[in-house]
Amino acid sequence: MLDKKNLRFETRQIHGGYSVDQTGSRGLAIYPTAAYHFKSCDYAANLFELSEGGNIYTRLHNPTTAAYEQRISSLYNAVGALAVSSGMAAIFITVTALAQAGDNIVAAPFLYGGTYNQFRVSLRKLGIEVRIAATERIEDFEELIDANTKMIYVESMGNPTCDVPDLEAIARLATAYDVPFVVDNTFGAAGFLCNPFDWGANIVVDSATKWINGHGTAMGGIIVDGGNYNWGNGKFPQIDGPSEGYHGLNLYETFGNQAFIVKCRVDGLRDFGCCPSPFDSYLMLLGLETLSLRVAHQVESCRTLAEYCLNHPKVSRVSYVGFEDHPGYKNAQKYYRFGASAVMNIELKGTLESTVQFVESLKLMGNMTMIGDSISVVTHPASTTHKQLSEEDMAAAGVTPTLLRISLGLENVEDIIDDFEQAFECVDNE
Ligand SMILES: Cc1ncc(COP(=O)(O)O)c(C=O)c1O
Repeated sequence: MLDKKNLRFETRQIHGGYSVDQTGSRGLAIYPTAAYHFKSCDYAANLFELSEGGNIYTRLHNPTTAAYEQRISSLYNAVGALAVSSGMAAIFITVTALAQAGDNIVAAPFLYGGTYNQFRVSLRKLGIEVRIAATERIEDFEELIDANTKMIYVESMGNPTCDVPDLEAIARLATAYDVPFVVDNTFGAAGFLCNPFDWGANIVVDSATKWINGHGTAMGGIIVDGGNYNWGNGKFPQIDGPSEGYHGLNLYETFGNQAFIVKCRVDGLRDFGCCPSPFDSYLMLLGLETLSLRVAHQVESCRTLAEYCLNHPKVSRVSYVGFEDHPGYKNAQKYYRFGASAVMNIELKGTLESTVQFVESLKLMGNMTMIGDSISVVTHPASTTHKQLSEEDMAAAGVTPTLLRISLGLENVEDIIDDFEQAFECVDNE
């Protein structure tokens, strides 16, 4: 007997959030609308005071986006998901839902450059202190936690170093201090490579711009609620307490284990407005249908390219999480399907200038700040994603002048290797 609750990932990425509508259409409809007709003023009033569910305005709800959110929630085995306009927006809405001026959050040292900047510059200006652990050792997280700590935040695989924190141990620490554990799972490919909820995470954020979309055609972010945190523990009066924006409504009493994701929607999206367009939600739904196939191909190509680089005289270091000498190897074996992702880093021999020359000589690879695309991409973090960081912070994030981040696409990897060969011939860096 087919039990729909136990469908496998590959099946849920196609069937999740889909139901046949009155037209019988196989494709999910795009609803390009800003507003919705209210059948009565009473009904509208119920929607506005959250006593009834339904569409109010596309900043908060849209049927295409709802299907996308349901599919994501199903892939993660979660209680709910919220789609927003970018990964950065997902992080910002999550943080501001939980932390206020005077609070702090404790974060891992290996973070995407944009996240690092949001944390260290913008959140500080809002009075939220971000404490970055010196290393990913549990003691280094623990010593930063105090009574005002409102979350522990890590990336399930750090961008760009590909370090993998010990998710299960950090989840234990978060539980011991009764603090929500939030994981940026962009590299985990919507749960296909890694599902942080399996290891005790409470909330996942994800840049859907990457593997979920998969073709570099839209920006997006998602927030996913595991439904496994006790918001009634007295630490979060904005969730379990009278809500200022909704005439004293208590979100936890009203929405139970979905209270957090409801808060992100009804406060976060309502007040900050970073909603996705219905068309972009459609592109995400389409991307999800092939996610597992794309990612499996990319991971395999990445391993092949890493092996090629290992033996190349113009490469000084290969940092690939699937190799035993990578600091994240052991944790990747435990937390990541295939023990790896589709991203690797290499350091070239030579200087910043010869590295730039190599990048500019590549003919197939995209020179972009992108990962998870159908096109293979090379990024020079020192002149792009991490450029805003001080030299000290750059070094702490593992970014050197000759470091290149490589994300494998869907091409035949032998063509990518040929592209590398011809670009190496253009550079005198041995
Ligand atoms: C790990 C990680 N988190 C968040 C983001 C931000 O996502 P977006 O570019 O969709 O705002 C990125 C972007 O590269 C990322 O790599």
